[in-house]
Amino acid sequence: MTTSPAHVAPDAGASTLARELTPAVGAAAQIVRRNIARFADEYPDDTTHHNRYPLRPASGPFPEGANRDWTTGFVPGQQWLAWQLTGDEQFRAAAARHALDFERRQRAGEDLDTHDLGFLYTLACVAPWRLTGDQDARAAALAAADHLMGRFLEPAGIIQAWGDLDDPEQRGRTIIDSLMNMPLLSWAFEQTGEQRYADAVRRHTAQLAEHIVRADDSTFHTFHWDPVTGQPLRGTTAQGAGDDSCWARGQAWGIYGFALNFQATGSQELLVAAERCADYFLAHLPADHVAFWDLDFTDGDGQPRDSSAAAIAACGLHELARVEPDGARADAYAGAGVQILRALVAGYTPAAEGVDSDALLLHAVYSLPAGWGIDEGCLWGDYFYLEALARHTLADWKRYW
Ligand code: GLY
Repeated sequence: MTTSPAHVAPDAGASTLARELTPAVGAAAQIVRRNIARFADEYPDDTTHHNRYPLRPASGPFPEGANRDWTTGFVPGQQWLAWQLTGDEQFRAAAARHALDFERRQRAGEDLDTHDLGFLYTLACVAPWRLTGDQDARAAALAAADHLMGRFLEPAGIIQAWGDLDDPEQRGRTIIDSLMNMPLLSWAFEQTGEQRYADAVRRHTAQLAEHIVRADDSTFHTFHWDPVTGQPLRGTTAQGAGDDSCWARGQAWGIYGFALNFQATGSQELLVAAERCADYFLAHLPADHVAFWDLDFTDGDGQPRDSSAAAIAACGLHELARVEPDGARADAYAGAGVQILRALVAGYTPAAEGVDSDALLLHAVYSLPAGWGIDEGCLWGDYFYLEALARHTLADWKRYW
């Protein structure tokens, strides 16, 4: 085992919490290791099927196992985290090979017409640049950020989430998840000094803070603007229980995403939006602190959980607590994040359940309305669970976002 400057030593002062979480880190790293042996440089599907990740299915021109769609960056993301958590060089080598494939994907222009370039390239290429100074990865991430800017719509001042820019159903529509794609643009601004990146982040996030967060502090999954006039039109859902319900993962993206974008822009409204998302999320948790897939459901409703929403919220609450100026509030957010992480470790992992699985975290929902990945593991749930563990067990861990 070799270490490098990017490897962060486990907290030598070893807080009680860090010591408590050490077995969970070991179990998670073991699953990441096994998945490297199983998948090598290919990509698993978005979610498990009966607790096993199949290879990503063939689709259109893409063969089975190819690097396509929005979740493949979570594979190297987990490997970079596992490297930092263990110092095991096998993880760095695997993640670096994925960076090469993301550079290829960018050069080839494969499946890049989505706002999810932020999820993909932050973890696959910004992370290696941050951790190892990989200049080729940096160049690919900058090219991806430039491509993402092509989705910025005037006069609405938003980045269109899905679909072709000419698609009348999708033109003028964005989604709360997009908040996590903005750090790629903020990073590109830091790297290049080009103001257009910072302006896009500031305008897009201001629109979301004003319109995607409802008066009661819940959130819409998606929101539509008139593409011609730029006027805000209406909120809808794609993955929630209804247009007026509160999709749990969306609310969790709101906590983490607004907290990150507050730091990038300095805009107080984004801090307030993060607080409002957090307060609503925490007020709508069931007894065991792990959200049902839509926050309109609670204990006794017979609905599945979304452990991935819980993992994202655990990271988001930790991030929000770091920047929250009110000390009592900061403590409450930090404490709630730890409570959620403990609940995941104790009740939602293969070790806790005594089952064998390729997933680090069991019991997520991808899209209940679409019938995708219901009560299964998923790549992003695994990533954010490991990130939450890194946040609490590594001294001075720095986020990739
Ligand atoms: N970003 C897509 C999802 O959360 O399902």
